[in-house]
Amino acid sequence: MDLKRGMEDQISEWNRMLGAASPEETIKFFTGTFGRELCLSSSMGAEDQVLTDMLVQADHGIRIITLDTGRLFPETLNLIDETNRHYQIRIEVVFPDYRNVEKMVREKGINLFYESIENRKLCCNLRKVEPLNRALDGMKAWITGIRKDQTLDRFHTRVVELDEGFNLVKINPLYRWTEKMVWEYIRTNKIPYNKLYDQGYRSIGCQPCTRPVKKDEDPRAGRWWWEDQGHKECGLHVKDDNTGKQ
Ligand code: ADX
Ligand code: SF4
Repeated sequence: MDLKRGMEDQISEWNRMLGAASPEETIKFFTGTFGRELCLSSSMGAEDQVLTDMLVQADHGIRIITLDTGRLFPETLNLIDETNRHYQIRIEVVFPDYRNVEKMVREKGINLFYESIENRKLCCNLRKVEPLNRALDGMKAWITGIRKDQTLDRFHTRVVELDEGFNLVKINPLYRWTEKMVWEYIRTNKIPYNKLYDQGYRSIGCQPCTRPVKKDEDPRAGRWWWEDQGHKECGLHVKDDNTGKQ
């Protein structure tokens, strides 16, 4: 049987079944379906903190992975600790291969990403995509905090997708939520969040590649702000090859 075809049929079925389900119902369904072969990939952003809260309630033992790129804000690192203590969990911190990073920095400089899109993608690839690819080895499905209204490309997000890049089922329980709903959940449930949000940040990645935004700006305008707007992705959520290979 054509495996991809079989998977696509299954994914269409799940989308029909869960298209209108709440994020909690979606998470509960997939913890039951995939068990320990499911994990959450968390950037420690607002959406991912909501998902951590829901996931811990559904099944306290599911892996939560975060990528420490080596260029994160101290506030983000502190939030890992705070979240661990709050939920009595141990978020798995995944690091890039130091040999690749050393070679890149030796050849192109520590802040190479400002010089070209090619350099920026190389850095994201070595510091994020390759480590995530390694961390997802042995998994069948991953949960992400992607929402439809975050970018034009994400508008087509469905609750369940076939992630051909990582060769996994990709689950986006918050796909229909707005930024406002995320913050309502955080406030109502008193969830730990990154304090940078109180300083005008609305989408948080690595420190050198993130700045706060003004009220009338797009929430993601502060990500890789020196590049043209639109189609700004680090490579974790593109449709093509995500193996992290050069
Ligand atoms: S990015 O592609 O622009 O960096 P974004 O910050 O919107 O992604 O995050 C979208 C989703 O990608 C998050 O909800 C999370 O699932 C995953 N993700 C992004 N950055 C990380 C990270 N540092 N560690 C783990 N997962 C991440
Ligand atoms: Fe490198 Fe910036 Fe990508 Fe972080 S967001 S991995 S620092 S280019």
